[in-house]
This record gives sequence, C-alpha cells and structure tokens, in this order.
Amino acid sequence: MLNRNLTAGPQDHLLPNPTEIPVDDVLMASLQKKYDFERDKRINARPEGNEQYVNILDLAEDDSRFARMIADPYPQIETPHPLTDEVECCVVGGGYGGLTAAARLVEAGINAKNVRLLDSGGDVGGTWYWNRYPGAMCDIESYVYMPMCEELGYVPTEKYAHQPEIYRHSKMIMEKYNLYENASFGARVTGMDWDDTKEKWLISTDKDDRFYARFVIMNFGLFTQPKLPKVPGVDSFKGHMFHTSRWDYDYTGGSSSGNLHKLKDKRVAIIGTGATAIQVVPHLGDSAKQLYVFQRTPSPVDVRNNRHTTPEYAKEFLSKPGWQKERRENFIQMVQSMKGPSNGVDLVDDGWTEIISNLMLKSQKFLRDEVQKAKETGQKPDMKQIARKAMDMSRVAQFQQMEKIRKRTDLVVKDKATADALKPWYHQFCKRPCFKDDYLTTFNKPNVKLVDTNGLGISAITEKGVVVNGQEYEVDVIVLATGFEQPGLDTGGRRTAPHRLGYDIIGRGKQSLAEKWKPQGPKSFEAYYSSGFPNIFFQNAPFDVLTVNFTHRLDEASIHFAHIISEMKKRSYQTFDVKHEVEEEFIKRQLEAVRPERAADCTPGYYNNEGVGQDEDSNRLAGVPHVMNPLAWFATLEKRRKDGTALNYFTLSSVRHKL
Ligand SMILES: Cc1cc2nc3c(=O)[nH]c(=O)nc-3n(C[C@H](O)[C@H](O)[C@H](O)COP(=O)(O)OP(=O)(O)OC[C@H]3O[C@@H](n4cnc5c(N)ncnc54)[C@H](O)[C@@H]3O)c2cc1C
Ligand SMILES: NC(=O)c1ccc[n+]([C@@H]2O[C@H](COP(=O)([O-])OP(=O)(O)OC[C@H]3O[C@@H](n4cnc5c(N)ncnc54)[C@H](OP(=O)(O)O)[C@@H]3O)[C@@H](O)[C@H]2O)c1
Repeated sequence: MLNRNLTAGPQDHLLPNPTEIPVDDVLMASLQKKYDFERDKRINARPEGNEQYVNILDLAEDDSRFARMIADPYPQIETPHPLTDEVECCVVGGGYGGLTAAARLVEAGINAKNVRLLDSGGDVGGTWYWNRYPGAMCDIESYVYMPMCEELGYVPTEKYAHQPEIYRHSKMIMEKYNLYENASFGARVTGMDWDDTKEKWLISTDKDDRFYARFVIMNFGLFTQPKLPKVPGVDSFKGHMFHTSRWDYDYTGGSSSGNLHKLKDKRVAIIGTGATAIQVVPHLGDSAKQLYVFQRTPSPVDVRNNRHTTPEYAKEFLSKPGWQKERRENFIQMVQSMKGPSNGVDLVDDGWTEIISNLMLKSQKFLRDEVQKAKETGQKPDMKQIARKAMDMSRVAQFQQMEKIRKRTDLVVKDKATADALKPWYHQFCKRPCFKDDYLTTFNKPNVKLVDTNGLGISAITEKGVVVNGQEYEVDVIVLATGFEQPGLDTGGRRTAPHRLGYDIIGRGKQSLAEKWKPQGPKSFEAYYSSGFPNIFFQNAPFDVLTVNFTHRLDEASIHFAHIISEMKKRSYQTFDVKHEVEEEFIKRQLEAVRPERAADCTPGYYNNEGVGQDEDSNRLAGVPHVMNPLAWFATLEKRRKDGTALNYFTLSSVRHKL
C-alpha cells in the first residue's frame, strides 16, 4: 500500500471535514462582506494593475546589477554557435511543452537530426531548469504531471516529485529521443522571420545564430520573465538580492533540499507569499538567523500529504499499459468536468480532487439525482428550483472549503495575531491553491516573523532593507518571490506583445505578429496557428484550452503538431497557413461564448488581470481560454487525426516537394 512516511502537518488529523463545517446564511453574508472588503482594499491600493510591476529584464537593460540577477547561474551544456545551417523543425523552448513537442515529432517519424530544440537556458527543463529554489516541487501529482512516463518506462519516486527529479526526467526525454545531438542552448531567440522565397523560417539569436527551419514550434512559456514590485528604491538596496527563479546557492549555501547553512548569521527578507514562497519559506526559516516574510495576500495552504511511491503502489496503479493516459484523463474528469469519472473512481485522490469534488461534483450529482427521481415518479422536475438548490450547495461548499483553510492556520500557528494574518479571505480558486505541511508551522519559530502589509504591499526598498507602513526592516538579503510576467496569456491589459519575449515574429509579406495583434488583441485559430504565419505552431498562446495540469494540454498539442507535420510530409506539402475566414470565425465564436468578466469578484492577481479592466476588450486582449472542456477538445483533435481532417483548416502550398 501507500508508504506514508512523509506525513501531513502535525495538527491535520484535527481538521474538520469541510462538508461538515456549519455555514449558514448569516455567516456566508458576513464572510462575503469581508471578502469584498479585502478585495477592494487591494484594488484601491494598486489601481494601476499590472503597471505596479517591473520586469527584471527591462531593469537589466540599464543596470548591470539586474543583468546579473537575471543571468543564468546554473552549469550549462555548451553547444556550437553561431549556427548557420538548416533544419526541418525548430522547437523554441525546452520546457515540458517543447520537450514533448520534439519527442512527439521523433515518434511521428521525423529524424531527430532534423529537430533542433533551442532554449536560452543552458539545458532543457524550462520551469524546472530555472526554478531550483529550496523546496521546489510539483503541485500536481507527478504521476500525471511528469509527461511521457510510460514512454520512458519511468515511475516518479514521490507523489509530488521535487525539482531535481523533474529536471532529470526532462533530460531523460532528450536522451530517449536523441534530441541532445542537435540541440542549442544558451542562445536567446531575437528574431523569427518567414522567408517568402525559401518558404522557411529564419531564426536569429543573441549568439549570432542565423539558421533556417521549415517548421517552428514555439513555446512562449508562461512563467519565464521574473518581475518585482515597482516601488521606490528597488535599485538602491546595498545588500544581496535575487529572484527565486535564479536561486543563489553560492550566497545561501545548501541545495534544493535545504540546509542553507550560509544564512545562519543572516537577516533575510522574502517578499511574496504565493506558490513559490510557500515552498521556500520553511527552508529559509530553518536556516536564517532572522527571517521576515513580507505578505500582501495570504495563499490558501491546504494539506499536502506527500508520499514515496512504493513498489506495491507502482505495480497496482502505475504499470498497466495506458496507465498514465487513463490517470491524466481521470484527473481532468475529477477536476474539470461537471460529472466526474463515469466509474466514480478518483485515481489521483488528493487535495485537488477533494476540493473540486466538494465544490462541484456533489452539487452536480444532486442535480442529476433530483431529475432522475422526478422522472422515476413520473413528475416534471422543477428545474429552476433544483438548479437553485445545486447552486446554493456549491456556494456553501465554497465557504466551507475556505473555512477549513482558515481553521488550519488556527490549529497550527500559535500566535493568534499571526494566525489571523495568515488567513485568506477570498474564494478557493481566486489563486492557485497551495498544499504544504510545513509552511504554517514555520511561523512558530522564534526567528521567523510575518510582516503583514494589510493588503497594501511593501512600500519601498532602501539601502538597508524593506519598508512597510513607515517601518524599515534591515536585512542582509532580499529574496524576491514576486512571480512572473505572463507573456503567453498577457492578462496585462497591454496588447499581447511578442516583442517582450525578445523577438517579434515576422510572417508572410513581412507582417509582424505584434502589429497583427495590436488593434484587436490576439488573433489565432484555436490558439495554435495564426493566419499569415505559415508553418508555425504556438503553445501556451492566447485562447489555449485550460488544464489545471499544464503538461497535459502541452502534450496533447504536441501530439497534434507532430501529426500535422508528418501528414504534410506524407502528402509532400511544403507549407500550411490557417485560412483567414477560419480564424475570424473561431475568434467570433470564442468571444461570444465566454463570459465578459473574469473572476471579477476575486482578490486581484494574475488570474483576473489584477482586478482591473474586466470588459470584453480586455478579454479579447488576454485571449480568453478555449471554451471547450479539455477532454472534449483533446477528443476533437484525436478525431481529426483519425479521420484525416487535421489539415482541412489550412491553405496548403500547391508546390509539392520532398522534405
Ligand atoms: C515554480 C513553478 C512550479 C510549477 N509547478 C507546476 C505544477 O506543479 N503543475 C503544473 O501543472 N504547472 C506548474 N507550473 C507551471 C509550469 O510552468 C508548467 O507546468 C510547465 O512546466 C510549463 O512548460 P512550458 O514548456 O510550457 O514552459 P517553460 O517550462 O516555462 O519553458 C519555456 C522555455 O522557453 C525558454 N524561452 C523563452 N523565451 C525564449 C527565447 N526568446 N529564446 C530562447 N528560449 C526562450 C525559457 O528559457 C524556458 O526554458 C509551475 C511553474 C512554476 C514557475
Ligand atoms: N508546483 C508548485 O506548487 C508551484 C510553485 C511555484 C509556482 N507555481 C506556479 O507559478 C505561479 C507563480 O507563482 P509565484 O509564487 O512565483 O508568483 P505569484 O503567485 O504571482 O506570487 C507573487 C507574490 O508576490 C506578492 N507581491 C507582489 N507584489 C508585492 C508587493 N508590492 N508587496 C508584497 N508582496 C507582493 C504577491 O502578493 P499578491 O497575492 O497580493 O499579489 C504574491 O504573494 C503559480 O501561480 C503557480 O501556477 C507552482
């Protein structure tokens, strides 16, 4: 059975089942009032939305300190530059998206020698290459998160694997498909130009590469550009400062499993309490002489209960052919469908599935049962009443779930004022839920202080430290756990701006993608292709389908891209370009189907454009997610592959030639 030697937090056995927490109308009304108050306070404090942040890449342009902060601190694989050759397929981005894309190409019959995977980092891994901070681990179960486990014959060692294992696993994909031979690292793409004569892409980098590729698979990556609050004095601090995505182990000592021994005589500030900080704080608390945690909005911190994978568990659940596909689909059925799995089995059975099951599946089941009951008794179901009751159940469950989270802080954190300050006042999915069993306990340590900014954020950085509400906290080092710009989704109210990535994409007739998207926001067909930009596929782009488990949708897109390229090869086509009218029709359908407000009642954050600009325009700009349920979407793609219609949406070049 499961090995439970990594257990949940010390008090968790005392936690109530959320469904049994009493929540009546009076309590819900007062909680809602508190939620609204906390949200409005934050929005009023930062009406400028995304403009409250500054991209460290931008600061680096004029300030060598920030340039050092953004530089790659990790050992790099040396690859030759400048490249001036030609390849059949270039995959930009070596995260799980690019990795699965490259691997699926090889599976589809493209010779690995003709696939070049390229990344500005010194190796593959993407998110897991850059984010090596102590405690980094996946928050989606690794058996569904880490892609291609079956293909590699690999079983993750923990239910939630840590960064070193995920990074190694990324490298295994490269090795299995012989992708290292032609890969390129340490070069940042600076230009992507379609050559109308050659009918190929010319890819340029900051290492003077200028090589051609027939096809490009482009992965923006969502969390690749570190940002920090644009407060006075960000450039004035005289101590040491770094971002969590470039952890400075030379300074802290230790490794991703902790033991940051060089901090034993250091006063440390960490700014931010999002998903990253939740994983880092326990390690800083263990090692620093003094730790200040600067909080603007608390995260909801639920039970993790990580476990090692025992041989028995692996044999029973992770060995049957097709196990990973089945498990990934089961996870989506649990967390992103209204019905749950048809057989009622929850294979992943963790915090995610528990929350969603409580929030959605129970009320939906009630709805179906009531309709069925009415049918059996020959009565006409009162749909209005049944639906209202189901919605009420779901609403109650929302409050119960967050009450459970708040009760956990009371159970774990000894100091009442600190426990209260750590309580989140918003609904569950206003922020990515966090699961951690030693975060809250860290605040019981005498060397750890929560500096709650009452929703207002830090007000300045000085030569000596961090200022909140007029009080300066002197520190030796500032750790920025302040998150990332999101070029892929670009919920920023800015026009989606490919040039922020360091390059623009120039398509047929020298048309720029940034210019094409400027007047009315992103324009693409099903997120993957944009008319006028032949032979290029996009991952993580606006309008993409949403999956809680990111790698699932990346892999499904990869399988489809590989199919399109191999079909084109089989039929000797040279170029594809999505038909203009197909693209227009898709965008029209998207914008009609999606509600105009995105989580407007939520606490501000990147899920809701920092709480500003909740109108149709901003939806268009942000590229609202695909309206289809992910499983229905993946089935649609599979059907197109099976019935040979995957190429129907394109103008295919009439010039036939051998690739
Ligand atoms: C710390 C952290 C933990 C996460 N944990 C989870 C999790 O548990 N579950 C989950 O579902 N999701 C998680 N995510 C989201 C995560 O980003 C995705 O799961 C997934 O790893 C993204 O893969 P990707 O290939 O799309 O992008 P990335 O992994 O971000 O890869 C993009 C790559 O593109 C490269 N690149 C970008 N621009 C250029 C350029 N101009 N030239 C060359 N290269 C370029 C970058 O260097 C990067 O390596 C996490 C994110 C973070 C930051
Ligand atoms: N596997 C995992 O568990 C895992 C781990 C890390 C990251 N991730 C993924 O990566 C995403 C990004 O996570 P992240 O934690 O790096 O970034 P994040 O969620 O954007 O968190 C940034 C933090 O900085 C705070 N902040 C911003 N400006 C501030 C200011 N002026 N003063 C004080 N605090 C300020 C934010 O507070 P506000 O909330 O008030 O804005 C927030 O707590 C996550 O949403 C998740 O999808 C996953």
